[in-house]
Amino acid sequence: MNDPRIAQLNLPPGMIDFGVGQPSPALLPLALLRTAAANRLDGKDAAFLAYGAEQGDGYFRAALAGLLSEHYRLAVEADQLFVTAGASMGLDLLCTLFARPGDTIFVEEPSYFLALRIFADHHLKIISLPMDAGGLIIEALEEKLSRHRPVFLYTIPTFHNPSSYTLGADRRELLVELSRKNNFLIVADEVYHLLNYAASPPPPPLASYIEADTVLSLGSFSKIMAPGLRLGWIQGGAQLLKRVTRCGLLDSGGGLNPFTSGVMRSAIEMGLQRDQLKILKTTYAKRKSALSKALKIYLPDSVRYSEPEGGFFIWLVFPEGVDTEKMRAEARRKNVGYLPGIKFSSGRKLKNCARLSFSYFDVPELEEGARRLGLVIKEHMKGY
Ligand SMILES: Cc1ncc(COP(=O)(O)O)c(C=O)c1O
Repeated sequence: MNDPRIAQLNLPPGMIDFGVGQPSPALLPLALLRTAAANRLDGKDAAFLAYGAEQGDGYFRAALAGLLSEHYRLAVEADQLFVTAGASMGLDLLCTLFARPGDTIFVEEPSYFLALRIFADHHLKIISLPMDAGGLIIEALEEKLSRHRPVFLYTIPTFHNPSSYTLGADRRELLVELSRKNNFLIVADEVYHLLNYAASPPPPPLASYIEADTVLSLGSFSKIMAPGLRLGWIQGGAQLLKRVTRCGLLDSGGGLNPFTSGVMRSAIEMGLQRDQLKILKTTYAKRKSALSKALKIYLPDSVRYSEPEGGFFIWLVFPEGVDTEKMRAEARRKNVGYLPGIKFSSGRKLKNCARLSFSYFDVPELEEGARRLGLVIKEHMKGY
């Protein structure tokens, strides 16, 4: 259990809460970051303790560009990167700079529930677009474009939160083509792209299309190192990034997170980020397989889900009529938790869905949690 004075999460003892979508404390790399920080602090150059360059520390961006080039299998340049204090902050900044209250945006249904909170803060009008196992449905997007003019479309193209769906390569091409034709921005939240557990890689990230100058790609160290770093990036073409780097926030405070960028620069240059990513992928892949197997044993066949190839989540789809929000209270009494589908719907739908995360708990707890969840579901569904 985390200490609530210092951590956002405060789990009751004994509770196996599949709603928690963050790494377990044991996966937070204390020793690794101690080494990286010592490397940076032992140097003679204290520039990373000054107000930083607006676009972000150039040495860090060069190291990050190298890391992304390797994992995206794409030539990423340092000047295509803007340093953020995490993907959430990056998204909030893009709302500030590219949208006005009352503007229309498109989001997927389901979508990342906390992004919906950010859009609400900016008073944006949300139009939702359906997805299937191949990601956002392009025909539905075309239909909505005939009736609405969004300032941007927010998508999680790879290992989606909460559905784990991945947008197919052909659909990526079509999506970018539509953004050019119809003059809207694509805000691609690609924070899970590097967490791939399958033998073959996912389709190229939407970051591959930044030359179109209609795409901005959000990345984050929250999923591949530690959320407490509050460090991420936006990858984009020259015109769009210019609009980002010229904002008042940076004029006053300078570039974001120069200190943490300095530490992460060392972590990347010393090969420690690569090592950590390997550990995370191995651990999460094991957890994902264990939870999928346990669900197969304990859940009724009428609950559908597919085994994800990456990311943090398994998306459960119950028969119509099941209300996962209502069932949640029964689950809590049995010391198991999940997030109900309604949270991920901009129109308060998806009542028959639920998101499970396998990032926080270890294999035995995941198996026990699946067993408890199975009991709750079977009891709840007796009436159906
Ligand atoms: C799709 C998505 N975007 C953004 C975030 C938050 O990222 P960060 O910690 O970099 O703000 C999360 C974390 O759960 C996420 O799932």
